[in-house]
Amino acid sequence: MIHIAILGFGVVGSGSAEVLTQNRELIAKHCGEEVNIKYILDLREFPDHPLGERVVHDIRVILDDPEVALVAEMMGGAHPAYDFTRAAIEAGKHVVTSNKEVVATFGVELLKLARKHHVSYLFEASVGGGIPIIRPLQTDLASNQILSVSGILNGTTNFILTKMEREGADFASALKEAQANGYAEANPAADVEGLDAARKIVILAALAFGVLLDPNKISTTGITGITKDHTAAARALGGAVKLIGHTRTVDGKVLAMVSPFFVPSQNPVSHVDGVFNGILVDANMLGRALFYGAGAGKLPTASAVVADIIDILSHRAEERSLPQWRTATAEEQTDASVLVCRHLFLIEGCAKCADKATKALRAEACVGVEGGRYALISAPMTAKEARDALSELTVVLTVPVLD
Ligand code: HSE
Repeated sequence: MIHIAILGFGVVGSGSAEVLTQNRELIAKHCGEEVNIKYILDLREFPDHPLGERVVHDIRVILDDPEVALVAEMMGGAHPAYDFTRAAIEAGKHVVTSNKEVVATFGVELLKLARKHHVSYLFEASVGGGIPIIRPLQTDLASNQILSVSGILNGTTNFILTKMEREGADFASALKEAQANGYAEANPAADVEGLDAARKIVILAALAFGVLLDPNKISTTGITGITKDHTAAARALGGAVKLIGHTRTVDGKVLAMVSPFFVPSQNPVSHVDGVFNGILVDANMLGRALFYGAGAGKLPTASAVVADIIDILSHRAEERSLPQWRTATAEEQTDASVLVCRHLFLIEGCAKCADKATKALRAEACVGVEGGRYALISAPMTAKEARDALSELTVVLTVPVLD
């Protein structure tokens, strides 16, 4: 029997216990032995839960028990999750986590520490919920140079946008439903203001390009400014406005950003609705591949956590090669201002203004939208070039296009 400990018995922690219990035999077969949850660390008691008597409140109980081979951290937040992760690694325990804040902030240091102590630090559940994306980028696409990674990385905001667009729901009630379903962060501002997606895109950028950017410093715009104008413009041009995390290199520097993008209907990401995430990887040999599935929620996220547990426990005899990330220097990174792409514009004015805008933006499409407005898609250019081209016109909104 192999003993493990769970840190944090919230949505994902209790979901992981459920996966480990429900699929016990299957998991034992993969690991070669039964996996036992010896401890659950939480501030609360769970007297009615079948594993309630395994709850402890002191991390030392877990750290000091040599029988515990692996710790699954699902506490959320930076502290004390980071501190407990460090301590567990230093105590020679493998760690798996769903905690994107810890990976995005301390990933370089924790991976280095894990290598030093000859243990694993895996984080499949930190991006895309249940979708396999970390391992595929690390292993299955290792023969490729990654050109870009773009996609819907936050289930809560995609759920809200879909509800608003499809059912005309208001923002507050859609958010409440996402919270009731266990999708949202403890502080949902992290979802709606784009920080959760920012943490995830810097993790993907690190996997793709080897350097970890500061998630608090990349260009980040959430969905709080999305209005009916966006929906109307997107509908007129055939597509949807989605909150997108995007990373690529520009002139040898890493760009990572989060922003609402217009996604034309030819791009499969435009059809990713509800709590689902869709991550489009463009690789130089494979071409484009879409990773699609449940991006948040109890059992989908737990499924990825337990996959990491199995991965480690079924390869205990081998020392794993962990990603070798570095912290990005100022010279190694750049920002959204250098992104050359098409832009969606909604402008106000007469048909003459629309003609003028079409020429200035070298637009391929210009369609009338109700209320005497026009939606246009510019030729590829930077956001500044596009804004400057329309400086004499009344621009209602502008968003980049994800082609
Ligand atoms: N709040 C996150 C989301 C949870 O909605 O995607 C999964 O990381």
